[in-house]
Amino acid sequence: MAANISPYKFVSKLLLLTAFFLNTKISMATNSLSFGQSLSGNQTLVSKDGTFALGFFTPGNSHKFYIGVWYNKLPGQTIFWVANRKAPVSDPTTSKLQISDLGNLVLLDSAKSPIWSSNSTAKVNIAILLDTGNLVLRNDSNSEVDIWQSFAHPTDTWMPGGWLGVNKITGEYQSLTSWKSTEDPAPGLFGQSMNPDGSDEYVLIWNGSNIYWSSGLWNGQYFSNVPGTREKTAFNFTFVDNKERKFATYTMVMDSILTRFVVDSEGQGKQWFWINNTQQWQTEFTQPLAHCDVYSLCGPFGVCDEKNPDSICRCAEGFKPASEQEWANTDWSSGCLRKSQLQCEKDGFFPMPNMRLPANIPESLNLTNEVECKEACLKNCSCTAYVYGTGCSIWKGELRNLQQPNVGGENGGTLYLRLAASDLPSPSSSNTNVVAVVVGAVAGGVVILVIVFSLVWLCRRRKIRGQAAMVEGSLVQFSYGDLQRITKNFSEKIGSGGFGSVFKGILPNSIPVAVKKLEDAVQGEKQFRAEVRTLGAIQHVNLVQLHGFCSVGNKRLLVYEYMPRSSLDSQLFSDSPTELNWEIRFQIILGTARGLAYLHEECRECIVHCDVKPDNVLLDADYNPKVSDFGMAKLIGRDFSKVLTTMRGTVGYLAPEWISGLPITPKVDVYSYGMMIFEVVSGKRNNMHSDDGSLAFYPSWASRKIVEGDVKSLLDKRLEDVDVEQLTRVCRVACWCIQDSEDQRPGMGQVVQILEGALEVNMPPVPTALQNMIGSQNSAVHSLRNEEKGESRKEMTIESFVDNEDGETTVSR
Ligand SMILES: *[C@@H]1O[C@H](CO)[C@@H](O)[C@H](O)[C@H]1NC(C)=O
Ligand SMILES: *[C@@H]1O[C@H](CO)[C@@H](O)[C@H](O)[C@H]1NC(C)=O
Ligand SMILES: *[C@@H]1O[C@H](CO)[C@@H](O)[C@H](O)[C@H]1NC(C)=O
Ligand SMILES: *[C@@H]1O[C@H](CO)[C@@H](O)[C@H](O)[C@H]1NC(C)=O
Ligand SMILES: *[C@@H]1O[C@H](CO)[C@@H](O)[C@H](O)[C@H]1NC(C)=O
Ligand SMILES: *[C@@H]1O[C@H](CO)[C@@H](O)[C@H](O)[C@H]1NC(C)=O
Ligand SMILES: *[C@@H]1O[C@H](CO)[C@@H](O)[C@H](O)[C@H]1NC(C)=O
Ligand SMILES: *[C@@H]1O[C@H](CO)[C@@H](O)[C@H](O)[C@H]1NC(C)=O
Repeated sequence: MAANISPYKFVSKLLLLTAFFLNTKISMATNSLSFGQSLSGNQTLVSKDGTFALGFFTPGNSHKFYIGVWYNKLPGQTIFWVANRKAPVSDPTTSKLQISDLGNLVLLDSAKSPIWSSNSTAKVNIAILLDTGNLVLRNDSNSEVDIWQSFAHPTDTWMPGGWLGVNKITGEYQSLTSWKSTEDPAPGLFGQSMNPDGSDEYVLIWNGSNIYWSSGLWNGQYFSNVPGTREKTAFNFTFVDNKERKFATYTMVMDSILTRFVVDSEGQGKQWFWINNTQQWQTEFTQPLAHCDVYSLCGPFGVCDEKNPDSICRCAEGFKPASEQEWANTDWSSGCLRKSQLQCEKDGFFPMPNMRLPANIPESLNLTNEVECKEACLKNCSCTAYVYGTGCSIWKGELRNLQQPNVGGENGGTLYLRLAASDLPSPSSSNTNVVAVVVGAVAGGVVILVIVFSLVWLCRRRKIRGQAAMVEGSLVQFSYGDLQRITKNFSEKIGSGGFGSVFKGILPNSIPVAVKKLEDAVQGEKQFRAEVRTLGAIQHVNLVQLHGFCSVGNKRLLVYEYMPRSSLDSQLFSDSPTELNWEIRFQIILGTARGLAYLHEECRECIVHCDVKPDNVLLDADYNPKVSDFGMAKLIGRDFSKVLTTMRGTVGYLAPEWISGLPITPKVDVYSYGMMIFEVVSGKRNNMHSDDGSLAFYPSWASRKIVEGDVKSLLDKRLEDVDVEQLTRVCRVACWCIQDSEDQRPGMGQVVQILEGALEVNMPPVPTALQNMIGSQNSAVHSLRNEEKGESRKEMTIESFVDNEDGETTVSR
């Protein structure tokens, strides 16, 4: 606000002018509308404390007008409630919002016919806009009884103090429904409500029927999948379940923080926060994080591709958008239509490799070869696609939820899509297509599928041999003998870490795998299986996939996909000239963040990695990063002190709360990740830098350089040609990640958004703990040694970083 006028005063002045010139019936800056008064044109109701306003608004360039409520003091106009969302008016000056004779709040259009009504159950005489943003209807201004309230009829936004719920008597839900597009508040297909199956959780749901994300069950304190509800510091969730109703509501513990949860028109649920410094809204968490995981985002026969910079949705080969206009408004829900009508038995099939298969369950046919499968689909004119993988599956009718490439890795394969012969690419181009497709498929991760299939095949073969291997979910259980054979009796060691050694193995079908022998496997068989099953279900391109395990006697082994380029540290800190140019390094920085964000924010149970470092980031043939060793803390038991001991060598990545004894949250990974980024940028170990010959701790020097705006001096001298803007973003986010207080560090999801350029990042402060430990990482080592001597961890505060004793100059690495 340039002129230093508070927005509230500014608006009051405007209202004063408005009232003067228009001779309105409502009084200046009032928060209420009584029977006999009306609101038209640019008049507003303003809540008592000036935070919220109600009036006509028009979204974007739509020239349609709606009654809505927005934040009065903030620039822009952030609408969080809409009355007549389905029925706009064209002229606000001749339309009127008023209390009708029947005692309802109604909106009359220019022809004085009611186009929206509150349909209140009892007669009301006054509408009041409260300081919470809730519009309530009451019998009179002295009454405390809300006969009707906007919080019970939310639009797409869940405000603090509002609720999601169900009335058990009437069966009515209080739920959110997305806008159809950013310019059209009409109800879209995405929503959030209490789970219709009656369980104590809320869900994101498509068209009231397909759930694509859940909050996790209420456990008495929080919803298990909702970040921030764990730490009672930020959100205060309340869950009520009584005879009449069941609902969830939340408030902010610090009520000066402005926040709102929105299901946007592209199906994602986002918690937004107003950031005073930047004067902008920022998202704190987004569900589902992978946009393509929104059910039917691209509509029937639409194909989702998160990486496509032009548009996340496209139509499948042979199809065109059902509505060009809606697609142009990023409303893809109507999907795609065939370019040419099908001719039944004259049709053909178009192969779409590396595809996430349609969400609707296919018919399984008992056919043993692909030709029969294709024939079966061709013969039935309502069959739209088939897949021949482990068997023959065919789909009839619309296909939804297609994604290519299949990033999640699960439920994938080559889909053969039925097209009219005239829509099939001509044979010559289809040849090149097939070549491109094959090359693309091989490069694009079909390798993973092959491994899965080969494991399944291996397992089947063993069944035939009568050895009955057990499969848990998609995991293969190996015998110890199998693994001895596969690894040539554990002869080729490819790594070792705090949890055991890793050996290369080759499956009978020549697919390489990495076999990890766990030491210290204190856990019992049953619990080990349970944990392994959880880990096996975690699938993400940036996480190393677990394929199988072995649990015999006290032996515990894990079988992972093999990563040809080994770990990041071996690539980064090698003496030979590095192949890691800036582009690849950025890809590693971003991919690792995505993997961690998935662990923190998208798994059913949040997984804190606890040991993020370059040694635990593996690289595939194309240098795509995959985080390894997650879930280990659980596999070897929940004894964190044990993890701490095994991490002595990685003390440079440890967040202060490990040492101070504060609770361990996902933010410890954020800290370690930040430390790791510095190493990726500089190409050197953080503790191996010498500033004029003496040992210096690099990040403390680096964070000062960042604050001074000199990011280029941080860069690996071996690199040229960097995108300075990108480098600046990376360095700033790294510096935010290593802030002393976990509250100051961003969440991993935010880190991803910053790196992708979706969020701006401010200049970070120099972390004070680091500032104090320039040249002395030893104190952290020292404090850990103290712990070994039996001193209580609680007594060691962050101050131990400052406590710099002489004599210890070696770093245990
Ligand atoms: C309100 O609307 C009137 C015309 O309807 C217009 O002249 C006036 O400038 C508007 N006031 C504001 C503050 O926009
Ligand atoms: C109010 O009732 C009318 C008639 O039953 C209905 O058409 C309208 O959708 C209702 N309005 C709201 C806001 O529920
Ligand atoms: C509503 O208010 C009127 C007076 O304003 C009063 O006579 C009437 O009893 C009230 N009705 C209810 C249901 O409170
Ligand atoms: C949504 O569900 C309703 C039935 O509940 C159905 O009639 C409608 O066609 C569905 N919408 C879409 C886009 O599938
Ligand atoms: C959380 O909300 C409940 C109910 O709204 C309230 O009783 C409690 O004091 C709140 N707790 C905190 C820490 O704000
Ligand atoms: C943001 O700024 C407003 C107005 O200056 C102030 O009232 C509010 O407390 C600030 N919020 C936070 C979280 O600092
Ligand atoms: C599948 O077909 C084969 C031969 O046609 C038959 O022997 C077998 O029982 C069938 N399996 C099932 C599950 O129907
Ligand atoms: C094709 O599939 C439909 C739907 O499953 C089925 O009703 C119909 O009988 C099938 N037609 C033929 C020729 O198999």
